[in-house]
Amino acid sequence: MRRIWLIGSVALGLVLGGHLGFVGAQDQAEPKKLNPFTGNPEAIKEGRQLYFLYGCSGCHGKKGGGGMGRPLIDDEWTFGSDDETLFKLIRGQIPEQTMPLGFGKVMKEEETWKVLAYIRSLYKGDSSLVNW
Ligand code: HEC
Repeated sequence: MRRIWLIGSVALGLVLGGHLGFVGAQDQAEPKKLNPFTGNPEAIKEGRQLYFLYGCSGCHGKKGGGGMGRPLIDDEWTFGSDDETLFKLIRGQIPEQTMPLGFGKVMKEEETWKVLAYIRSLYKGDSSLVNW
């Protein structure tokens, strides 16, 4: 008799455990996209060239200090500081943005990540706030 109880509770445990695990997985939000090139010296070098090629420097300054566009070296980010948000902003996919929308049409996705890797390398804000 005892043995049947034991088997029964193990089976119940598996069913419940499996079920809860499934619910947990459903609750999790999709992870945000991360820049595959962050900290990669080659990509940062290329990103710097792209930053000038695409005229980012015209609005954000040669060293990202800002001008007509916002500074890119501080820890204030209008729409968020994570990789995915800035990727979308650079590619013109944030409806409220005032930055020009056209870069997504001319820039390859990979180039966008590389420019972002360059921007990250310029960051001079509070390192405890870094979440990328
Ligand atoms: C015509 C001027 C202009 C050009 C060119 C431009 N930007 Fe911007 N950028 C802006 C403005 C204006 C904002 C502020 C956006 C907002 O708050 O709606 C901005 C915001 C940003 C931000 C977020 C800054 C923050 O503090 O939240 C990033 C990152 C950025 N630009 C990157 C780039 C990159 C990379 C390029 C080149 C591909 C580029 N920008 C070209 C004007 C420009």
